[in-house]
Amino acid sequence: MEKNTKEKVIEIRDLSITFETLAGNVHAIRGVNIDLFRGETLAIVGESGSGKSVTMKAAMGILAKNSQVDSGTIMYTYYRDDGTKRTVNILEMKKKSLRKHINGKRIAMIFQDPMTSLDPTMQIGKQIMEGMLWHGRANKTDAWAKAVKLLEEVGIEEPERRMKNYPHQLSGGMRQRIVIAIALACDPDLLICDEPTTALDVTIQAKILELIQRIQRERGISVIYITHDLGVVAKIADYVDVMYAGKIVEKGTVEEIFYEPRHPYTWGLLSAMPDLDTEDERLYTIPGTPPNLLHPVEGDAFAPRNQYALKIDQRAEPPMFKITDTHYAATWLLDERAPKVEMPVELRHRIDRMMKGEVKNDNN
Ligand SMILES: Nc1ncnc2c1ncn2[C@@H]1O[C@H](COP(=O)(O)OP(=O)(O)O)[C@@H](O)[C@H]1O
Ligand SMILES: [Mg+2]
Repeated sequence: MEKNTKEKVIEIRDLSITFETLAGNVHAIRGVNIDLFRGETLAIVGESGSGKSVTMKAAMGILAKNSQVDSGTIMYTYYRDDGTKRTVNILEMKKKSLRKHINGKRIAMIFQDPMTSLDPTMQIGKQIMEGMLWHGRANKTDAWAKAVKLLEEVGIEEPERRMKNYPHQLSGGMRQRIVIAIALACDPDLLICDEPTTALDVTIQAKILELIQRIQRERGISVIYITHDLGVVAKIADYVDVMYAGKIVEKGTVEEIFYEPRHPYTWGLLSAMPDLDTEDERLYTIPGTPPNLLHPVEGDAFAPRNQYALKIDQRAEPPMFKITDTHYAATWLLDERAPKVEMPVELRHRIDRMMKGEVKNDNN
């Protein structure tokens, strides 16, 4: 696709979300902006608790009851069955309308633990057919045939027999394939994968990842892939958003994030990534812990963990500095008045090795 003909599927602007808890209000999402173009894959990375899942739940309109959206828009553009284009603000839609027109039908989500999305009391065939029947995508006979085809597509052998199985009769990897089949049943144009392989063992992880990539290629759908595993990101993403304490702190193409990272937090994540070439067994971990979002954040939320922190970090939040048309980072180190700071030498060497070796996306 030509760069200037790209169409946005999702555009999130200035999204802020608070949770009411017994301990007080948790400011979980603090002004998030996200763009996803049609047919592309965006990875959202960041430590646990940074707000990845909450942001995507907001995009599905399935936030928890104790949540409050303080600001923002989530614009979603899709094509109706008659081919006409429509853009809606997910946050302004009624629950009923979301369920009827968007959720499951056009935007589908795969979660980390397949058991949370499967009904243990229902045959898997029925579960795959359910959405098609509910959204009026097919009659019973067609839905059955399509479900069998989907099982084949996600690599389940003897699909006809499997249709009658219950979830407990399947392995974890097979269950996640079923969840993917359910997600694909209504031909969504956007697939959100929330750490879909985290609960699985390494070989199964790789197979599920390959499956998602193949489906993305064959169906040309847009994918948002949430993970804390940067190795996965290198394989699948076109763009990467790095999240920290409820904000996007760096965004860029996958090459920019891996080869020219500019935010010290991204440096930390990359340094902590397991690397087959590294002889040293001890893996780096970013010191400290993320801030408690019950309390307002003063200055740069990453400053207390940042060995390169500047004085200004204590009192002012850094804006997103532009590096290229596609690359931005929120760190005062990019201010023209800041001292010149390079990424750690160790990381530079690591990246140089990565650049010489096999790079991402050879399948694109
Ligand atoms: N229903 C809830 N009530 C209170 N806090 C919540 C709720 N859901 C999420 N949070 C908080 O919001 C923050 C972001 O969570 P989440 O998006 O799940 O992080 P992750 O990046 O690991 O997916 C965390 O601090 C989490 O504790
Ligand atoms: Mg999560």
